[in-house]
Amino acid sequence: MRTYKVLTVCLGNICRSPAAQGILESTADKQNIFLELDSAGTAAYHIGNSPDSRSIAALHQIGIDISRQKARQVTKDDFCDFDWILAMDRENLSNLKKIQPKNSKATLVMFGEFYDSVAFGEVADPYYGDDKGFIEMREHLIQIADKFIHHLHSNRED
Ligand code: 4NP
Repeated sequence: MRTYKVLTVCLGNICRSPAAQGILESTADKQNIFLELDSAGTAAYHIGNSPDSRSIAALHQIGIDISRQKARQVTKDDFCDFDWILAMDRENLSNLKKIQPKNSKATLVMFGEFYDSVAFGEVADPYYGDDKGFIEMREHLIQIADKFIHHLHSNRED
């Protein structure tokens, strides 16, 4: 069975995309699909930092440890290395399109588009809000990850 390389991307790479990475790792394990995952930010503000403590706590509550991740900025090479690049919001998507090389191997999409019922497919940025926003982000990401893994299963070529 093939392995899919998947990169989750948000702005700072400390709240949404590390959480999305952890949730996808856990969902893929449970649903018997092989993913090689990483996450990155479109901005450089937090390079080298651990995820936001509120993201770590929200994921810890459901048994997922994202504390060892370190933030990095997305690069052009990521478009050659990954099969999927999953943007958390439209601004991320627009910034990613600006650096996407013409020979991009990666399929670049909004992650939330896999979960139909949410307007515009955006994962709301919880950074300036309270802890509740991080729980809502987690629950939203769980729903999207489930749909994404189903999509991979139903489009498998192996
Ligand atoms: P993220 O959230 O893009 O989900 O990691 C943010 C993290 C940091 C900032 C903004 C959003 N910031 O402005 O530093």
